[in-house]
Amino acid sequence: MKRIGMLTSGGDCQALNAAMRGVVKSLLNSGEQVEIYGFLDGYRGLIYSNFRMLTWADFSGILTKGGTILGSSRTPFKTIKDPDENGIDKVDAMLQTYHKLRLDCLVVLGGNGTHKTANLLRENGLNVVTLPKTIDNDLYGTDMTFGFQSAVNIATDCIDMIHTTASSHGRVFIVEVMGHKVGYLTLNAGIAGGADIILIPEIPYDIDKVVEAIEERNKRGSRFTILAVAEGAISKEDAKLSKKELKEKQAKSKYPSVSYEIADKILKKTGKEVRVTVPGHTQRGGTPCPYDRVFASRLGAEAGKLILKGEYGFMVGYKNREIVKVPLDEVAGKLKMVDPKSSIIKEAKMLGISFGD
Ligand code: F6P
Repeated sequence: MKRIGMLTSGGDCQALNAAMRGVVKSLLNSGEQVEIYGFLDGYRGLIYSNFRMLTWADFSGILTKGGTILGSSRTPFKTIKDPDENGIDKVDAMLQTYHKLRLDCLVVLGGNGTHKTANLLRENGLNVVTLPKTIDNDLYGTDMTFGFQSAVNIATDCIDMIHTTASSHGRVFIVEVMGHKVGYLTLNAGIAGGADIILIPEIPYDIDKVVEAIEERNKRGSRFTILAVAEGAISKEDAKLSKKELKEKQAKSKYPSVSYEIADKILKKTGKEVRVTVPGHTQRGGTPCPYDRVFASRLGAEAGKLILKGEYGFMVGYKNREIVKVPLDEVAGKLKMVDPKSSIIKEAKMLGISFGD
C-alpha cells in the first residue's frame, strides 16, 4: 500500500490535471494499492491539513480539463519560514500533516517558487517527487514545462487576430505576453505570430532601435507593425538600475504595464497610433493543447514509476528529448532564461525580427 499526497501550487496552467491523471493511472495500473490524498489550494492544504481522498473517478475525464481539480494558491517561499497570522509555523505544520497521515510521498506540481519549498520539505526528510508546470518554461533542469505550448498557442492566436486589424488600420500594435522575468513565451509566440519586433527581459531594448525598426518597415511599404512584448521587457536604461531602484521607479509609473509605456514612447517619437492588447490570464486558461496532454501524461507516468521504485527527491523533467529525473536541489532556486546568444535568437534576427537591441 502506498499513501500518496498530491498538490498543485503557484499560478495554474494547462495540463495540471493531465499530469495528475498520468501519475495516478500509472500507479493504479501497476496493481499497487494506493491511497491518494489531494491537498487543496497548494501548500495551504498541506499546512492546514485540508485534503480530499481521491479515487479513480476523480481522475476520469480530466485529461482535457484546464485548471486544477485541487485548486492552487501562491505560498511565497520568501515567507515560508515565517509564522502565519495565527503564529503557526508553516513548515512544521506541513511536516506534521505528512507524518500524521503516514504518507509515503508527496507529489508536487509547480514552478520555481513551488520547487524551492518542495526542496525544503525534502531537506526536512519528506519523500518528494515533483512535476514541472508553468506557462513561462523558465524552470531550471528541464527543456520543457507543461502549460508552455498551450500558452504559446493562445498568445499566437492573439497575435494572429491582431494582424488583420493592424493591417486594415495601418497601426502599430503591441501584444503583451506573460513572463515577468523570462521571455520564452513571448519569443515563441512572437515568431509563430509573425511579430516584427520582440522585446524580452533578457535583451534590454533601446526605444530608438524599436522606432527605427518601425520606420524601416514603413519605408518598405508595410503600413503596420506588431510588437510582442513580454510583461518584464526592460529598457537599456532601466536594466542599469538596481532591483530596489527599479521597483521604486515602477511603483511611481503612471502606466498600467510596460507595454503602455512603450506605446507612449512610440507615439511621441513617431506620431503613430499605437494600440495595446493584453491577453493576460487567458494564456493560462482553457484546455491543454495536444502536445501538453501527451507531455504531461508522460511525465506523470514516469513520476508514478519513481514512486513505485521508491526513488524520491527528484523532479521529472525533459532533457535532450528524453524524460529524465533531476535532483531537486539542482532545480530549486535557479531560473532558466533565454540566452541572447542562442540560435533561436540569431535565426529570428535573420528573419528580420528586431529585438530593439
Ligand atoms: O505562473 C506564471 C505566470 O502566469 C507569469 O507568466 C505571470 O507573470 C504570473 O504568473 C501572473 O501571476 P498571477 O496569476 O499571480 O497574477
